[in-house]
Amino acid sequence: MLAFKEVLLSVPIAAITKNFGMCVLALCLGFFSARTHLLWVATTGFYLYKKGINVMTDNVDRSKRRLLLAATTAAGGVAAAGVATPFVLSFMPSERAKAAGAPVEVDISAIAPGTMKVIEWQGKPVWVVRRTPEMLSLLSKHESELTDPTCSVPQQPEYCQNANRSIKPEIFVAIGICTHLGCSPSFRPEVAPADLGANWGGGWFCPCHGSRFDLAARVYQGSPAPTNLIIPPHQYLSDNLLLIGDDKKKGVA
Ligand code: FES
Repeated sequence: MLAFKEVLLSVPIAAITKNFGMCVLALCLGFFSARTHLLWVATTGFYLYKKGINVMTDNVDRSKRRLLLAATTAAGGVAAAGVATPFVLSFMPSERAKAAGAPVEVDISAIAPGTMKVIEWQGKPVWVVRRTPEMLSLLSKHESELTDPTCSVPQQPEYCQNANRSIKPEIFVAIGICTHLGCSPSFRPEVAPADLGANWGGGWFCPCHGSRFDLAARVYQGSPAPTNLIIPPHQYLSDNLLLIGDDKKKGVA
């Protein structure tokens, strides 16, 4: 498709050089080519190059030569910018990509005690669980069975490196992706179900290869998952409004 720039630039060049033939040729070639800008530059450049040789050999006045050089430079610059712009823009993140990585607000008021809400942040599932006092009391009872009970591996922000792995004890937030091979573990809050054994105190079970995590998403020894699950940066914007993905905004503690 013929670009507006080609039309716009061919007119002054034609006027300056008093040769419409080459400009018409450039327009026609540009019209039939998918590489409109490159072809336009090549064709016009060739013509101006030829014209420049004539200028050097003939007795042409200097002001005309200067005009010709200025037109060449301007035309080349604009056309090169036209070619480069799509490539540069292709490296910039789209609005959709920026939105996908943006922090997400979560209303936690409707999460009943003992239940979990799943939201999406950066294309990943994020769990928000309202733990009951009974659930919290179980966390300290099986620490000897965990791979990293004190969370020494930095899988969480510093403000969550505590006994509950959370800002407020009852509200727990974690990215729901297994640290083994990336499956999403199942929420199994019940105590001692038949399929998970009498020692099961609630948590998450990864069906892919059998990794087990407690209700603070700390991994049990013997699981293929090497580390506890990741806790994303988050903060409270109000008592019932969580912001996932950003802990620097002005909110409440
Ligand atoms: S991906 Fe979870 S145990 Fe392998």
